[in-house]
Amino acid sequence: MNKSIQLDSLQLGVCYYPEQWSDSLWEDDFKRMKDMNLSHIRIGEFAWSIFEPQEGVYDFDLFDRVLDLAHQYGLKVIMGTPTATPPAWLTQKYPEVLNATIEGVTYQHGMRRHYNYSSPKYQELCANITRQMANHFKDHPAIIGWQIDNELNCEVSEFYAEADHIAFRQWVQERYHTLEALNQAWGTVFWSQTYTDWNQVYLPRLTTAHSPNPHLVLDEKRFISDNTIAFARIQADILREIAPHHWITTNGLFGHLDSHALTEEMLDFFSYDSYPQFSTIFGSDEPKPLLDRKWSQNLSVVRNISNNFCIMEQQAGPGGWVNRMNMPAPRPGQLRLWTYQSVLHGADLVMYFRWRTATFGTEIYWHGLNDYHNQPNRRIQEASQVGQEFVAIGDKIAGTTYQADIAIVKDYDNDWDGEYDIWHGPLTGKSINAWFKQLQYQHIPTDIIYLRKQTLAELQQYKVLIYPHAAIMSEQTATLLTQYVEAGGTLILGARTGYKELSGHCRMAPMPGPVASLCGISVADFTSITGNAQVPGLRWQHNNHHMAQVAELFNDILQVNEDDVEVLATYTSSYYEDAPALTQRLYGKGKVLYYGAAFHEDVVDELLSILEISSPVADWLEVPEQVEIGIRQNEQHQYIFLLNYSDQEASIQIKQQRTDVLIDTLIEGTTTIPAYGVMILQ
Ligand code: GAL
Repeated sequence: MNKSIQLDSLQLGVCYYPEQWSDSLWEDDFKRMKDMNLSHIRIGEFAWSIFEPQEGVYDFDLFDRVLDLAHQYGLKVIMGTPTATPPAWLTQKYPEVLNATIEGVTYQHGMRRHYNYSSPKYQELCANITRQMANHFKDHPAIIGWQIDNELNCEVSEFYAEADHIAFRQWVQERYHTLEALNQAWGTVFWSQTYTDWNQVYLPRLTTAHSPNPHLVLDEKRFISDNTIAFARIQADILREIAPHHWITTNGLFGHLDSHALTEEMLDFFSYDSYPQFSTIFGSDEPKPLLDRKWSQNLSVVRNISNNFCIMEQQAGPGGWVNRMNMPAPRPGQLRLWTYQSVLHGADLVMYFRWRTATFGTEIYWHGLNDYHNQPNRRIQEASQVGQEFVAIGDKIAGTTYQADIAIVKDYDNDWDGEYDIWHGPLTGKSINAWFKQLQYQHIPTDIIYLRKQTLAELQQYKVLIYPHAAIMSEQTATLLTQYVEAGGTLILGARTGYKELSGHCRMAPMPGPVASLCGISVADFTSITGNAQVPGLRWQHNNHHMAQVAELFNDILQVNEDDVEVLATYTSSYYEDAPALTQRLYGKGKVLYYGAAFHEDVVDELLSILEISSPVADWLEVPEQVEIGIRQNEQHQYIFLLNYSDQEASIQIKQQRTDVLIDTLIEGTTTIPAYGVMILQ
């Protein structure tokens, strides 16, 4: 069991910035929150200049008054440490705390997250303000927990201040001990990059063609993650020491940070900020994109960190900064839908961002529940409905967890290496999208798990694992995966598997390296599908069906090495026409599949049918594609969530009598879910 939030009932809350409003508004705000069944507020995370207006001068009066009032209205408070926004006096006096670009240009005061994690001065100042706040607020009865910083690694997740180069050098020394080992690990003999003195070692800097040593770039990401965790630990340790009765979390899911390790090492549970309307600004040229429903993919990663978690910021209106991220208003129903999307995937506490839209500053278009005018609006109405529903059903759902028999597997090394390496990184995004999307459309609940230190038993809770393009794979991982298959699991691998070691060096062995013997194949030849290369099709051997242009991005041309390997599909064009593209091998009690390309949605569909993977509710529930199906359960009860992401109503068929939990009514037969509607069946 991972570290999860512990609540007896679903709870709703909102982010509140008392320092941005006249204190004459506070009481009315809290009263209306209570009326809406909002039970939690988060405050403080950007208010350093209020808490410490000058170095060493502290003023907690404003927040004391807010806390007293909040307590009077029975609100529970999450206090944020304000270290994402160092004040002007601080960066003026200690400019070494500022972050810099790879070119060494310093980021200046005037936005947020303009600091680096490595500066001893910044660490000291952060420790100090955290200690001051913890001592001051620890006994306030309204406070229940703390948020460390805000969105670690959001906005920038690369750090090139002088202090970062120094900290990196230290990290490298601890990791490699000798220059010889470092030179070996980074392959520095290539292009005469050999280091003869530790002081020659830097994080990547501006290079010709913007192409620094790839092994350095991979270690850079590992360092950033470790360094971020070390920065957070300073605050976590202080809070644990002074306020052991409060829980600690942080909100995120950003680049170059092992959020699993962060949570395991110091948090009580992980929190996530969910803004599904970002889908409107990314654009997509694929057919039937998941759009806001794709946030279920992020939420699935969050769930792998904490089964039950907090949504610290749930989108509450149109988004937008003055100069960027222009998003349309959520349509009527969407705020409620997105709230239940979070709940389905494991959120037990959902905090809207934010109570009222700011009337000044960068985020005047990032809308809260209330508009500038502070009069009732449809967003308040929708949140109030959710508030009532949480009161009615929250104790049933809280603590239940998402149920899936199939998991998509990822890992941090490949995420980070793949960001830079164009021969495997792009394949992973493409394949995970194809799998997640088709599993969504076929109503098959799916987990996304990060491969870390799992035991065989932990992997065995899944019937199927899809680990699409693990270019970096250790022998140990290969052994674990082999045991998983032997014991009855189905493992699906894709192109470029296993050719790199943990250092990022390529193995001098036939691909797919440590899983070649498990798969019973090797990669005889290969090509990237790029430039003018035509995307080959596949011919499926079981029905001779030809699928045009589906073997995208990369083609491993497979050679079968064992008699018991079955070729499921061959390529249909190019110089490797008719060569094996997809193989299956029954091994032990399970099976392993190797596919030589990035996964296309049609290929996923065919595989789901060949492997007979179907929705666990298929025998009693018929729903159209536009509805996401997921299950939260505990030992006694199962709750099936039906979320309609479409602007059209969904016609559904319930073939066994169930309870419609939200309206507490028995239900059976043909019925509809309105546009953006939600149904929970028990
Ligand atoms: C989050 C952040 C909030 C707010 C919001 C809208 O990333 O934590 O403070 O900025 O986005 O932009």
